[in-house]
Amino acid sequence: MAFNQGTYQGIVASTYDIWFSGDRFDDTDFYKKFMDEVPGAALEIGCGTGRLLLPYLTEGYDVEGVDCSAEMLELCTLKASARGVSPVLHNQLIQELRLPKTYKTIYIPMASLMCVSERDEAIRALAGIFNHLDYGGQVLIPLFIPRNVNTDEWKVSRSGIRSDGAEVILSSISSVIFHDQVQTNQDKYEVLKDGELLDTVFTTSKLRWYGKYEFIMMLEKIGFQAIVVYGGYNLQPLNDDQNFMIFRARK
Ligand SMILES: C[S@@+](CC[C@H](N)C(=O)[O-])C[C@H]1O[C@@H](n2cnc3c(N)ncnc32)[C@H](O)[C@@H]1O
Repeated sequence: MAFNQGTYQGIVASTYDIWFSGDRFDDTDFYKKFMDEVPGAALEIGCGTGRLLLPYLTEGYDVEGVDCSAEMLELCTLKASARGVSPVLHNQLIQELRLPKTYKTIYIPMASLMCVSERDEAIRALAGIFNHLDYGGQVLIPLFIPRNVNTDEWKVSRSGIRSDGAEVILSSISSVIFHDQVQTNQDKYEVLKDGELLDTVFTTSKLRWYGKYEFIMMLEKIGFQAIVVYGGYNLQPLNDDQNFMIFRARK
């Protein structure tokens, strides 16, 4: 049994592609549509193992990746060489973005901005994104508000088979502090082979959420304009009980 406090390291990185393998996902066409609308260099923040980045590169999009996890980037590089593409990857924190060029599109899929658990750091991240956009460039940021709040029993959220044939079961316990807008997740990874429990690894992560108007105000304060909020990857409007939002804003 091991305790791994870091996010997207160790078992979190090595199992990521069990849950997200393949080349097409719900959000694949969404980012492509906007990159087509504002053509030019794009940057994926929190690109991880290249779930979106690698298929986009294969299709000829000019997109680079940033991630703070060296392990996720290493897996991305391995997968890239297997499919014959050479991504430009930057091992940086989003809240300390310092890249030598600017972009037409910057996108942060899978609500990864919520991994920046301190509000002032998220604001710093948004300011850094603004500075790395060309005038007329766009940012695309999906976010969600947790619905299932406090759970005191382990609840299985995912399971899958690792490349060595072992089964990995992921269970979680969540707790929410509403007025702080923070959700803390404890995750348990159980690795089984031939019915035998080989390993159990616990990790902890913290997610910060934002309300719709709060996030719009944060974007406006930084200087973003033409802010639109979508209710899903088909560009549908938000409905009344929706807890998932995608923000698009221009510099
Ligand atoms: C949910 S994964 C998304 C990976 C990939 N974009 C995808 O859609 O499959 C979140 C990624 O964001 C990265 N990440 C989390 N916090 C970050 C930060 N502060 N700066 C840069 N990357 C971060 C993690 O290392 C991880 O690879």
